[in-house]
Amino acid sequence: MNERWVKVEVAEGVATVTIDRQEALNALNTEIIDALHRVFHSLGKDDSVRAVILTGAGKAFVAGADIKEMADFTPAQARAFSRRGQRVFSEIEAFARPVIAAVNGFALGGGCELAMACDVRIASEKAKLGQPEVNLGVTPGFGGTQRLARLVGRSKAKLLLFTGELVGAERALALGLVDEVVAPESLLARCREIATLVAGKGPVAVSYCKQAVNAGVETDLEHGLAYESELFAQTFATTDQKEGMQAFVDKRPARFTGR
Ligand code: CAA
Repeated sequence: MNERWVKVEVAEGVATVTIDRQEALNALNTEIIDALHRVFHSLGKDDSVRAVILTGAGKAFVAGADIKEMADFTPAQARAFSRRGQRVFSEIEAFARPVIAAVNGFALGGGCELAMACDVRIASEKAKLGQPEVNLGVTPGFGGTQRLARLVGRSKAKLLLFTGELVGAERALALGLVDEVVAPESLLARCREIATLVAGKGPVAVSYCKQAVNAGVETDLEHGLAYESELFAQTFATTDQKEGMQAFVDKRPARFTGR
């Protein structure tokens, strides 16, 4: 599953996906975007994977889309590049298991957009996030204008988008752009702790929680509630529901199988 610039390790139900193109601060070129598609496609077929941690090697999470690749794009090429990135990020957002962004350093432009496509963001104290595309005379192209506004609200999103300002981890936490801030040396351990906790839960239930939230925030409450009821009902067709409730009655830990 390893790719030239994307490394994958799977251990105890948790996959760690590391973007490793340190000479360009992990900037996303077409090859990496396509590699992410292949990696998540493969992980999606592996039932043993219950959670994914996505991170960057070295001092950056991802410093953006590859400016050197984009510099000579025509509008048509720019549109295709944007749609390609958006598609892969949407695949990550819809990935059946939780995806945790371990934001170890710069998460700028496409890097901030990638982190936002994940389910939760745990940041190192050293992280710097932002959408600096206006410095380059362009807009974000991998979902930044859409996911940032949904995550932090439209006016705070506009502030970051209009100014291109980078924010440190604590400011990102206050904005709601990241969910926790930890010491750099604890980042992966904290992400593994969360992922391991998730990996021990009913996998179908966790997956349905993700689907319900993702679908629910894009619809009205009435439809969101109806969808929740449907997923709730479907969990009662699983052996994990029988096992989870029986284990409660028996006062023992549940042994979930994902069925
Ligand atoms: N694309 C291509 N190469 C990049 C890059 C990027 N986004 N970010 C960094 N690099 C490269 C640099 O060009 C440099 O390569 P060379 O050694 O060959 O010159 C190498 O990575 C190291 O970078 P710096 O020397 O600049 O490192 P620094 O520590 O001095 O600065 C930084 C770090 C502030 C992150 C700076 O690199 C920077 O501003 N990067 C660009 C950030 C950015 O504008 N991102 C948005 C891109 S546009 C986008 O993402 C659009 C979209 O939504 C689709």
